[in-house]
Amino acid sequence: MRKGSRKPLGFVWLVGAGPGDASLLTLKAKECLKRADVVIYDRLVAPSVLSFARPDAELIYAGKEPGGEKTSQAWINETMVAKAREGKKVVRLKNGDPFVFGRGAEELEALAEAGVPFEIVPGVSSAFAVPAYAGIPLTDRRFASSFAVGVGKSAEEGNDSVDFCKLAQADTVVALMAVGELEKVIAQLMEGGKSPKTPAALIEWGQRRNKGLRLPS
Ligand SMILES: C[S@@+](CC[C@H](N)C(=O)[O-])C[C@H]1O[C@@H](n2cnc3c(N)ncnc32)[C@H](O)[C@@H]1O
Repeated sequence: MRKGSRKPLGFVWLVGAGPGDASLLTLKAKECLKRADVVIYDRLVAPSVLSFARPDAELIYAGKEPGGEKTSQAWINETMVAKAREGKKVVRLKNGDPFVFGRGAEELEALAEAGVPFEIVPGVSSAFAVPAYAGIPLTDRRFASSFAVGVGKSAEEGNDSVDFCKLAQADTVVALMAVGELEKVIAQLMEGGKSPKTPAALIEWGQRRNKGLRLPS
């Protein structure tokens, strides 16, 4: 209950939805979806995942289209806080894991500042699950004993993406948000010491029935 208010404060679960296939949702994530009055979901959350929400739940789209319309982070933060202040149970549903390039930390900061109680429900990150579904292990003690994950392109204008030159020391390198940045990523990896003969795979919309696997020529 908030000071001066009769309405009990709601709650926010920051939930990882996994990379696509709804069967990779955790049991806890499914439970939260069943209990939520409001679900605020991102562009990459698969529709099959949303089907676990209650039929009467309010579904709010908060996607950021690459090169197009982007729901502002401030609006997302405000909406989560406003719905919780109405006494609602909110699921903030994010692709993969909320803390892997998901701006989860910023959203939790906003909730903490507003005094809204929250819980984090980790998800299966695309960083390892998508290669795994394509039969690519990130480590294999015979060939690769380290891996690094970076982003090719930042979601926000004006923010720098990682310099893959620095990640080239890892045996396996995973580049997220990189389809439009391949030339740059490859050049930086080679500059960092990777051989041009290093095996590589490009997986777009992994685990999603609508799209498939592309292999580089
Ligand atoms: C903003 S990052 C979010 C990553 C997410 N938090 C995670 O843990 O997987 C979005 C990027 O993750 C990658 N990604 C997410 N789902 C994917 C999928 N099903 N197939 C391939 N890449 C995926 C893409 O590189 C996409 O641009």
